[in-house]
Amino acid sequence: MEPPAAATDRHSHARPELVRVEHVEVDLTADFASRELHGTATLHVVRPDAGAPLIVDVGRGMTIESIVGADGAARPHELSGADPILGRALTITLAPGDRSVTIRYRTGHAAAAVQWLAPAQTAGGTQPYLYTQGQAILTRTWIPLQDSPGTRVTWTAVIRTDPALVALMSADRREVESAGTTRFAMSHAVPPYLIALAIGDLAKRDVSARCAIWTEPAMLDRAADELCDVERMLQRCEELYGEYVWGRYDVLVLPPAFPFGGMENPCLTFATPTILAGDRSLVALIAHELAHSWSGNLVTNATWSDFWLNEGFTVYVEQRIVEALYGRERAALEIHLCVGELRAELAKLEPCDQVLHVDLDGRDPDLGMTSVPYHKGAAFLRRLERAFGRDRFDAFLGRWFASHAFRSVTTADFLAFLSTELLQSDPAAARGIDVDAWIHAPGLPADLALPPSTRLAAVDAARDAWLAGGPTAALPMPGWTTAETLRFLDDLGAGAPAARLDELDAAFELTGSHNAEILAAWLERRILAGPLPPRVDARLEGFLLAVGRRKLVRPLYTALLASEAGAARARAIYASARPRYHAVTRGTLDALLTERAPNAG
Ligand code: BES
Ligand code: ZN
Repeated sequence: MEPPAAATDRHSHARPELVRVEHVEVDLTADFASRELHGTATLHVVRPDAGAPLIVDVGRGMTIESIVGADGAARPHELSGADPILGRALTITLAPGDRSVTIRYRTGHAAAAVQWLAPAQTAGGTQPYLYTQGQAILTRTWIPLQDSPGTRVTWTAVIRTDPALVALMSADRREVESAGTTRFAMSHAVPPYLIALAIGDLAKRDVSARCAIWTEPAMLDRAADELCDVERMLQRCEELYGEYVWGRYDVLVLPPAFPFGGMENPCLTFATPTILAGDRSLVALIAHELAHSWSGNLVTNATWSDFWLNEGFTVYVEQRIVEALYGRERAALEIHLCVGELRAELAKLEPCDQVLHVDLDGRDPDLGMTSVPYHKGAAFLRRLERAFGRDRFDAFLGRWFASHAFRSVTTADFLAFLSTELLQSDPAAARGIDVDAWIHAPGLPADLALPPSTRLAAVDAARDAWLAGGPTAALPMPGWTTAETLRFLDDLGAGAPAARLDELDAAFELTGSHNAEILAAWLERRILAGPLPPRVDARLEGFLLAVGRRKLVRPLYTALLASEAGAARARAIYASARPRYHAVTRGTLDALLTERAPNAG
């Protein structure tokens, strides 16, 4: 049999088929005064082509100080010009016997993965904080390596920093060697985007033998209470798809600047504090990150065009966990919310970006992070589940994870496996599923397998009655769950004038909501209806100054930009907020706020 052609990753300069890094040892000092990481990365290589140089990815701002072989002698090397998306290629000429090289480097203070937070951006307010975000192609900005999800490395790290702070990484925390020095080791081969570091004034609370919640001391009670179900989620996932292989599953609840909802760093999920609603109503996000322990971390998308293999599978599993722990109705509501989000986004995306296997050539892989890989991907799996039945589909997914564990996979790999392991086993069940359309056609196939939801129908009826002029006091909103309230707000459209919305606010205190998702959905709605009352405007400003989660802040800036006065307000707030955001959020908002500037150019 022909070996499968290696997927080429357009988002890495590396040529792992010639020389491949298989183990990385970093020894880094985190210097909060200069806001810089510096130290060494030792790359251990295998060399299928003994004559080829080692090519690694490095971020634009990184300074390479020296490169030596195991003998301590310098190795010749060359840095390419900086590509705005990919950064630089570092080409190192290896000596004949080289099995490793050591690169001494400094990140510069603007490494895109790393956010250095001032004490004022933390809950405690007295210590600084640092965290990294590697996905999709940012690990190269703080560690020189072959930064492709198609290559995997084992790794170790020594982190040196202020002894008053705690360092955590996405790995086993081996020992605190001496004050300020901590060792870590990851013995499973992982894609480089899963290497992560956080340093701050951190404390932990065990919630089971293998799960703990880490966060700043001031947040610990709240965070541990909100996330108390993580062990049960893990157990459910193990029942479905087999053993959890990563040892510990801890969650780090970060400061609100964190640009994502969550990030599935192995052994240690990173999460935004905006999931702490006080009623555990937003914990599906933890189910999601935990599910990545199988879909993503065990079986990894080989290129960013195959991202739906990570995210679509993970959303599907997340929703299965929610159903198992919190019941069918809650899962159904959350599925409908996701599909609503998908439909709204499809209406705005170019057809070429509406497909599961997306073309990202010459583009930032970040642009592939739309609802499509997430929710169209999950809808495809639900469609297959409905056709073949849960038992067969669960067993099929279990076999997919087991037979591709610790490997990087392409869409073609999945389709081949799907065909032999499921479709061909029951052609009658497979009939009617247009796999090709699901993967390659824009839009949403009509045969979407949506679960029934009676509560959803009730919310929609209440909304219609209210939009038709029904009394605000008749709305059952106080009794609604978060998902129901979000459904109501999402679907108000432009139907309600500002005065009616202000009535809603007065009755249900939306501006005062401590649920970040509800608050953001409400503010977006209200901004679109016209000038904000001062109290609402102040809350908006406070939110945008504190929270850097892109999914929540982007719609608010977008809504502001829809009017001239709003656009001026957006720019004024952004001028103060920008330095407080992570580079990922800044990148998105810079594009948004400069593109539409009336006087731009
Ligand atoms: N792995 C993603 C986050 C990510 C994707 C970061 C691509 C950078 C590039 C994570 O698992 C995720 O999907 N987070 C979602 C939450 C989830 C519940 C849909 C988020 O952050 O919104
Ligand atoms: Zn995800």
